[in-house]
Amino acid sequence: MQKKEMLDKLRYDIINQDICPDLRKQATNLVFGSGNVDAKIMLIGEAPGKNEDLSGEPFVGAAGKLLNELLLSVELNREDVYITNIVKYRPPQNRDPFPEETVQFLPFLKKQIEIISPDIIITLGRHSMNCFLSNQQISKIHGIPRKMKLNVNKLQNKYKEIILIPFFHPAAALYNGGLRDSLFLDFKKVAKYLN
Ligand code: URA
Repeated sequence: MQKKEMLDKLRYDIINQDICPDLRKQATNLVFGSGNVDAKIMLIGEAPGKNEDLSGEPFVGAAGKLLNELLLSVELNREDVYITNIVKYRPPQNRDPFPEETVQFLPFLKKQIEIISPDIIITLGRHSMNCFLSNQQISKIHGIPRKMKLNVNKLQNKYKEIILIPFFHPAAALYNGGLRDSLFLDFKKVAKYLN
């Protein structure tokens, strides 16, 4: 099967298995992921907001615009990367995803990683970082790349070697100049990995 078919199947599995039915009932669209399925860089956010829910695409609102600027600052654009979120339906009023919602979507995120097979995973925000690294503070480890063996398929005991780079969430930087500067600096610092 081609990557696109595998991703389509995964998308239908989320619907057919009725993952997070309460979120699904309130959502307009399932926001699965977008970008280059052969990308070496995969970015993982938290959950869709209003604009993403309406369009069905991740990071198309204000945080998405800042993300585009960050990518451009290291000479990348959306076609060079694949972008998704942990939770694929918008939480009401943009609240943080509940831990049980993250738990329900995690096997699908891992499968998505297995299909895209990136070399580098960039987590955006602490919720996304916590899916890969527990008991860490984003304020201490943002912008620091680390090698990881990711167990993408527990049943088949499959591991994928990746470089994980935790970044602050662009939404948090929209109204905080210090965080915004930090994000641009972090992108510059790891540009050699990204390019
Ligand atoms: N914030 C996220 O974490 N994901 C989106 O898709 C949009 C905003």
